[in-house]
Amino acid sequence: MTWKGKERRRRRWIIAMDGPAGVGKSTVGRLIAKKLGFLFLNTGEMYRALTWKVMREGIDPKNGKRIEQLARRIVWEFKPARGTSLRTFVDGVKINHQIRSEQVSRNASTVAGIPGVRKFMRKLQRKLGEKGGIVMEGRDITTNVFPDADFKLFLDASIDERAVRRYWQLKNQGYHVDLKTIRENIAARDKQDRERKINPLRQAPGSLVVDTTHLTLRQVANKILKCIHQRHYRVTD
Ligand code: DC
Repeated sequence: MTWKGKERRRRRWIIAMDGPAGVGKSTVGRLIAKKLGFLFLNTGEMYRALTWKVMREGIDPKNGKRIEQLARRIVWEFKPARGTSLRTFVDGVKINHQIRSEQVSRNASTVAGIPGVRKFMRKLQRKLGEKGGIVMEGRDITTNVFPDADFKLFLDASIDERAVRRYWQLKNQGYHVDLKTIRENIAARDKQDRERKINPLRQAPGSLVVDTTHLTLRQVANKILKCIHQRHYRVTD
């Protein structure tokens, strides 16, 4: 596979990726973005950042009106770290490990079900991706934010595999975690993300679906890069 420098700079694709919690979207997305010289945006981080702010301000995560107002009031900034990942800043605060707790995860799923919040986020995400040259991942990027993206990807894996991955991710970050609780939380979030009324998690038509259960995330990224490369040459040859 050849990704020549000049050709890389010319490409301004939008690569949209969706999938359930703990499937490895961020790791895979970052690897792909790095290889293509693109930016990477994890949109779950935006919902988590808002949720963190909601919790700090003592707002009920079900209070749609106040949360929508808060989303509009926040000063949102996105700055690339190490040239690839766009990091989220809210009101000047860099969003980091504080959004990874299980409590934020649970509440984020509720906050993400608020129609006004989703509308606001979509507008912001479209603005961030409009120039292309970006890999964007979340739950509705292929179906709602960029349904006409150049490449649409859907990652999936068994719930047991996803729970084990999340367990090690959190443990390596120094959290005291319990596999059974993580599995239950992932199952609950799957249900909420797939069954919510507005923009539920779905496979968009035309998506490349990759089951990552028996692959390393590097193998997944390589498989996707190969497909992107082949499709690109099929289209332009
Ligand atoms: O990917 P994540 O677990 O960090 O996402 C946090 C929550 O935000 C999760 O419940 C799904 C929701 N989300 C969403 O509804 N739409 C997106 N584009 C990204 C995340």
